[in-house]
Amino acid sequence: MIDATAPAPSPQTTIAAMGQHVGQSVTLYGWLYNLRSSGKLLFPTFRDGTGTVQGIVPKAAVSEALFETLKALTLESSLIVTGTVRADARAPSGFELDVEDLTVTQRVDDATPYPIQLKEAGVDFLMEHRHLWLRTPRQSAILRVRAAIMRAAAEFFDTQGYIRTDPPILTPNACEGTSELFEMDYFGDDKAYLTQSGQLYIEATALALGKVYSFGPTFRAEKSKTRRHLTEFWMIEPEACYMDLDGLMSLAEGFLTHIVSRVLEAHRGELKVIGRDVARLEAVIAPANSNTPDASFEGDGLQPVREGSTTGAGFGPGGNRFPRLSYDQAHAMLLDAHAKGFIENAHVYGDDFGSPDETYISNQFNKPVLVHRYPAAVKAFYMQPDPLDATKALCVDVLAPEGYGEIIGGSQRVDSYDLLKSRIEAHNLPMDAFQWYLDLRRYGSVPHSGFGMGIERCVAWICGLEHVRETIPFARTLNRIYP
Ligand code: 4AD
Ligand code: MG
Repeated sequence: MIDATAPAPSPQTTIAAMGQHVGQSVTLYGWLYNLRSSGKLLFPTFRDGTGTVQGIVPKAAVSEALFETLKALTLESSLIVTGTVRADARAPSGFELDVEDLTVTQRVDDATPYPIQLKEAGVDFLMEHRHLWLRTPRQSAILRVRAAIMRAAAEFFDTQGYIRTDPPILTPNACEGTSELFEMDYFGDDKAYLTQSGQLYIEATALALGKVYSFGPTFRAEKSKTRRHLTEFWMIEPEACYMDLDGLMSLAEGFLTHIVSRVLEAHRGELKVIGRDVARLEAVIAPANSNTPDASFEGDGLQPVREGSTTGAGFGPGGNRFPRLSYDQAHAMLLDAHAKGFIENAHVYGDDFGSPDETYISNQFNKPVLVHRYPAAVKAFYMQPDPLDATKALCVDVLAPEGYGEIIGGSQRVDSYDLLKSRIEAHNLPMDAFQWYLDLRRYGSVPHSGFGMGIERCVAWICGLEHVRETIPFARTLNRIYP
């Protein structure tokens, strides 16, 4: 029976949506994040997963029982709180809550207090308590940006005519070199490996559908303990038929421009919580001609951006162009930097770039930089040789600004059957396991290209984080598989 005389229940809302309820009484479902008191006043901070808000509780405004319950309430106890939303320009969220009622859902026992204090704790301790550390506003904000990046990345390909096709995670062969494979027994007779990249399989789906992408977890038994390496990470990989290296570079530009634009459109609040300097991200999507370092670098005789690629041109709002450097140009830049004392070790021609090299190169620009045509010897077996110099591969690495290093790796693929077969032999890869892959060159082979971006490296860059371990809910690294 409806009681017409009862007061209307306070509508349920979230902290993020409180702005729509100024002056109204609302109900929030959340947790006690912090509690300060000063005599007859309590200042609880509530969190609900969408944000935090400070409550005000004068002793005189609530019942004795409520005041005492809240005063003794332990951090991270779950609760349902009702109060009136008040706009307050001084509050970080812009609002405060005048608390009227509160129900405790679960009170954290005094004997086992919430282990993560608001004061700084060491990273090892925090990683050991990752399941709880995720609750802090900064960590939640990072996960929100991660979700936004994943959504924008998929949206870009969905709206450009790419069909998502999911490659297997258990595979009979390696994709990116055999030294970093997680191996497992597959019912006794066969071995299986956790996939390092969906690439080989989406080459097959690309030849079926034209333009495809995959998006899923990938695995590398990385023995390295760096701030860029995880053993399990998420990769998004497009693959397109009749696309050349130029088209691929334009695709990468448009892709990153779209992701950064989407994050800046809708997630400035999270970036603020994380402490990110958004001007660095705004520079990434600004029209290329207002980008002074690029312009001056072009004056140094760098190869001008080639326009008019039939397959990849037209992406990227406002003609946003990222600087492009050949491996040879990057090498010359590094030698010069070494001569001037900016980097310790002289880069050896023919070698891959080390971390300090990548950091130096990316620091010369305020946009991601595309480094193309590496020596074939340091790159994967499936990369198409440059017709102008067969010692080089038609490949590109995208280095993120501010020293974040490689976030994208890609290439045009070998499309000749004979060349691919000799490459598989030269790399001592098991020919049997690659028969199906060779079929793709036997039946209607076409020039095709693709790249892979690791989501965690992209999140680390966009959020300005020191280490990739904060970019994924539960990081897997050389020495951590708990929690
Ligand atoms: O450069 P990689 O090894 O390229 C490939 O796997 C290609 N098969 C992709 C393709 O062409 N479809 O890896 C691609 C990206 C890197 O640029 C980096 O962002 C990320 O994957 N990545 C890692 N991220 C975190 N931890 C690791 N151990 C990573 N290894 C690669
Ligand atoms: Mg790479």
